[in-house]
Amino acid sequence: MTNVSTNPDHTFDVVIIGSGAAGLSLALQLAGQARIAVLSKGRLFEGSTYWAQGGIAAVIDPSDDLEAHVRDTLDAGAGLNHEETVRMVVEHAPACIDWLLELGVPFDRFENGAGLHLTREGGHTHRRVIHAEDATGRALEETLLRHAKAHPDIHLFENRLAIDLITARKLGHSDDRALGAYVLDRLSGQVETFRAPAVVLATGGAGKVYLYTSNPDSASGDGIAMGWRAGCRVANMEFMQFHPTCLYDPRAKSFLISEAVRGEGGRLLLPDGTRFMPSFDPRGELAPRDIVARAIDHEMKRLGLDCVYLDISHRPPEFITRHFPNIYRRCLELGYDMTREPLPVVPAAHYTCGGVCTDLTGRTDIPGLYAIGEVACTGLHGANRLASNSLLECLVFARAAAEDILHRPSPALAADLKTPAWDESRVTDSDEEVVVTHNWDEIRRFMWDYVGIVRTDKRLQRAHHRIDLLLGEIDEYYSRFRVSPNLIELRNLAVVAKLIITSALARHESRGLHYNLDYPKADPRLAKTDTVLAPDLDHAGFPPRVVSPDH
Ligand code: FAD
Ligand code: SIN
Repeated sequence: MTNVSTNPDHTFDVVIIGSGAAGLSLALQLAGQARIAVLSKGRLFEGSTYWAQGGIAAVIDPSDDLEAHVRDTLDAGAGLNHEETVRMVVEHAPACIDWLLELGVPFDRFENGAGLHLTREGGHTHRRVIHAEDATGRALEETLLRHAKAHPDIHLFENRLAIDLITARKLGHSDDRALGAYVLDRLSGQVETFRAPAVVLATGGAGKVYLYTSNPDSASGDGIAMGWRAGCRVANMEFMQFHPTCLYDPRAKSFLISEAVRGEGGRLLLPDGTRFMPSFDPRGELAPRDIVARAIDHEMKRLGLDCVYLDISHRPPEFITRHFPNIYRRCLELGYDMTREPLPVVPAAHYTCGGVCTDLTGRTDIPGLYAIGEVACTGLHGANRLASNSLLECLVFARAAAEDILHRPSPALAADLKTPAWDESRVTDSDEEVVVTHNWDEIRRFMWDYVGIVRTDKRLQRAHHRIDLLLGEIDEYYSRFRVSPNLIELRNLAVVAKLIITSALARHESRGLHYNLDYPKADPRLAKTDTVLAPDLDHAGFPPRVVSPDH
């Protein structure tokens, strides 16, 4: 038995799990008025934010208008978006950009000094994407981190992997509220307790649930799974966004070719040089992502192709290297010169539109627990996210949650509300780590094959059957062996896979990113119906109860 009573116990005003755009922006908004812990399961910059390329959407051009950004967001989201959320996000966008400029994010400007350069991406009827070359996320993350490191109220904890939330209900109290989290220190192997009256999930998305993804390894859906197990409703998990253009090269794991390449004139071609997008949508390469990814998938299956091609070589080389210096360099390292030749590309899982249900302040179903950024389902994206609205959502909801935490604070942690230390008395070291790696691979492969861009009920049922078997196996393993990072992530990945499959089976129509050959049309009766799943509180969430759509 391991003695856990000496493991570190940290108490803060706010514990934020995640150090991407959402988590760091929130920490900076709270600093000066609260003591904050920010946790990252790896290095501080290792989330999707650092990898973001295209930019941040906001109406700042006088010839653009807020209504157009609202309309484009609703149009991309196939009408499922919550209009109130869309308006709130779009209206707060310019102020968020001002805040980032004050912090010093080095956004691109016109050479003649005529303000910020705006690029264009799919689904936008206007140039409105503010960017820092083709590595906007890196510029943003580095700036936010620099400020966070300098602030005495912000305590940054690297290599701290949150395992599960601590809630009053789990401790046997009838009035539920968030109390903190159990966290694995990956370097010492100890499980620590972080306690706070306000706990924030800012853990990003779940792209790793698919075999091919643009996401970093950290995107294993931990926050969605932790929120689910704690008792939060989760919505719209069937809407996993596939980005149309990831580089097709085995050496380039997860390398995205930004949609801005199409925004600046890039064309999608078949191997014989034929352009195919205009026959799928009048907007061609700049149709929303669900349409472009599905068209590529269709052409690849029709012609038995491994990939299609993205060509911007008709633009001058100086233009390409100025706008896309990082993409250009990385492709060149791999032997592709995008100033002279088309790039081989394929779609890959990119963005989790669903997540933990929140209100407009980031509050979840559990008092004191917030969810912001990609982990959340706020109603902004509906059935498909508009390009460059994600970083924006992180920023706007960080502000809204900060307001709420500061002005409607949760009651302080009572000294008598004891949080037991993590108990490892009944587990031993794993002797079969291969089970974990095998299950990781199996989930990601069947999710890709059966729950991908194009679905059928039969494939979804197959996936459902498999995930139930795996969940049982993983649960058994989890109860016997000491936790490891791989095991914690696998357990979360399996929960997320189950939520995606259950949601996909519940939606008997095709809308946005969810395309099912058995129901190829949108059902107008479901036009405003989210897929909401509620957990069974007595059994770590399972089986999920489908609250809506109600058939
Ligand atoms: P992340 O930035 O993913 O941060 C998650 C954090 O949570 C990390 O610090 C991670 O360590 C931590 N974490 C996770 N689980 C745990 C745990 N169990 N314990 C402790 N810590 C944990 N969006 C746009 O709007 N514009 C773009 O141009 C754009 N380009 C993109 C390009 C790529 C390649 C990718 C992958 C995404 C892109 N997106 C873009 C999407 C956008 O980057 C993400 O949606 C956004 O950055 C998510 O931010 P976040 O703060 O919610 O999460
Ligand atoms: C990209 O640069 O293509 C990614 C933009 C996004 O995901 O919003």
